[in-house]
Order: sequence, then C-alpha cells, then structure tokens
Amino acid sequence: MYIGNKIIFREKVSSTNDVAETLIREGAAGDGTIIWAGEQLSGRGQKGNLWESESGMNLTMSLILRPNFLSPEKQFLISKVISLGLAGFLKGYIDNVTIKWPNDIYVRGDKIAGILIESSISGNIIDSTISGIGLNVNQEKFTSGAPNPVSMKNITGNEYRIEEIISELCNHLNYWYTRLADGDYSTIDSEYRSSLYRLDRVAPYIVSGLKIDGIIRGVDQFGHLLLEDEGGSVRKFAFREIEFTQPQSPSH
Ligand code: BTN
Repeated sequence: MYIGNKIIFREKVSSTNDVAETLIREGAAGDGTIIWAGEQLSGRGQKGNLWESESGMNLTMSLILRPNFLSPEKQFLISKVISLGLAGFLKGYIDNVTIKWPNDIYVRGDKIAGILIESSISGNIIDSTISGIGLNVNQEKFTSGAPNPVSMKNITGNEYRIEEIISELCNHLNYWYTRLADGDYSTIDSEYRSSLYRLDRVAPYIVSGLKIDGIIRGVDQFGHLLLEDEGGSVRKFAFREIEFTQPQSPSH
C-alpha cells in the first residue's frame, strides 16, 4: 500500500495542511504519509473560508504526495484523482454522489466533503502536494453558515469509525493514484467528467455579477470549467471566475 503507508494522528492541531507543510519542510514526511486530527483549531477551506468540523466527529486529514513524475501544467490531474478517490469511497455508502467542479463532493445538492490542495513546484517538477480532505461523517448540525453542508450520518442515519474510513478511503485513493502514475490519463479524465455535478444539464451560474444559464460540458486539461452558454458557445472559466447558483424558486 502506497498512500497511507504512514498514518500520523494528532489530537488537536491548527490545520492538518499546516502540520503536513512543517513535516515536509523538516524532511520528516515521505510520499504517501497521512496526517489526521481529532480537532482543527483553524481548519482552512477554499477561498479563505474556515472549514467547520466538530471535534472527533469527522475526517480531517492531509495526504502528502511527491508526484515528481508529473509536470506542473498537469497538476489538475492530482485534483481529479483525489476527487475520484473520495467520490468512489462515498459511492459505497451513498447514492447520487457527484464531483462539483473543481473538487467538492456533493450528494444531490449538498456538500459532504471539500478538498484543499496546496502544491510546491520547483522548476519543472511538482515537488510536493498536500491534499487536505474534510469529509463530514458523524456531525449532525452545522453552525458556521456554510451554504449546504451534509454528513454521512445525516444521509444514512449510521455512525462511522474514522479509522475505518481512512483505511477504506486509502484503497480508493491508491487505485486512482496508481492510474495517474501509470499515465492512464484518459480513464481519469473520462471518469472525472462523467462524475461531474450538473453535467449536460441547464443550470444557473453567476459570471461577472450577472446570472446566466449554462450547461457544463467538462473541463479542459488545465482544469478550467467548460460551460456552454445560451448562444451555444463553449466558454472556459477559472475557479474564481464563475459561481454556481440555485434556480429561483417560483414566487407566490
Ligand atoms: C473546501 O473549502 O471545500 C476545502 C475544505 C478542506 C478542509 C480540509 S480539513 C483537512 C485539511 N486541513 C485544513 O485546514 N483544510 C483541509
């Protein structure tokens, strides 16, 4: 087993991504090492948001990888394989699991997991990546005001042991990371595309402050979202350039 060959547990940390970064800097973390924590005091999300996770209830972990076989322009493939591993794991428990571009995991319209990837590039190689994974497991109520959180327990009614989740998740991450190391990009690309939330469906988005209807057709090799607009043209968007929104509910 490659991913998860070493698993480090810490009761309380600022953020597992910060611990991973320190271990890399100190030369104390090998490829495939996982750091998981019972509690994060300042868990970080995308776009500078905080990541809410009640102590001991959820999976908050960071995976250290050294994908020096991958050139920096291919780094979105890391995001794809981590998303596929996490989505694949969840599909064993829950129906209607999708990947909301670029790397949120959704169940129907609700977010069950988020991923925060931080890479260090030196010259033409990716020296290390830290994939921070926050998966809502046993927490039932969310208070931070995040728009649509949901947990495994909310959906199935069951409680789960975090150690078991990590071990099973590692199997799925190993499967997809091995595909990446083998250069099997076409399988990764097609599975990621077909897992996308709202794929091939008309839905509302906000672009430059304006609401538009569009249809997700996939992503390009750099991870830009490909969205067909109302006129039938396919436009590319970077992460901060487009926001997913909800259809307006009919007024009475
Ligand atoms: C998101 O905003 O969707 C990304 C959330 C990522 C949260 C995880 S929890 C473990 C790791 N440590 C952090 O501080 N953040 C990530």
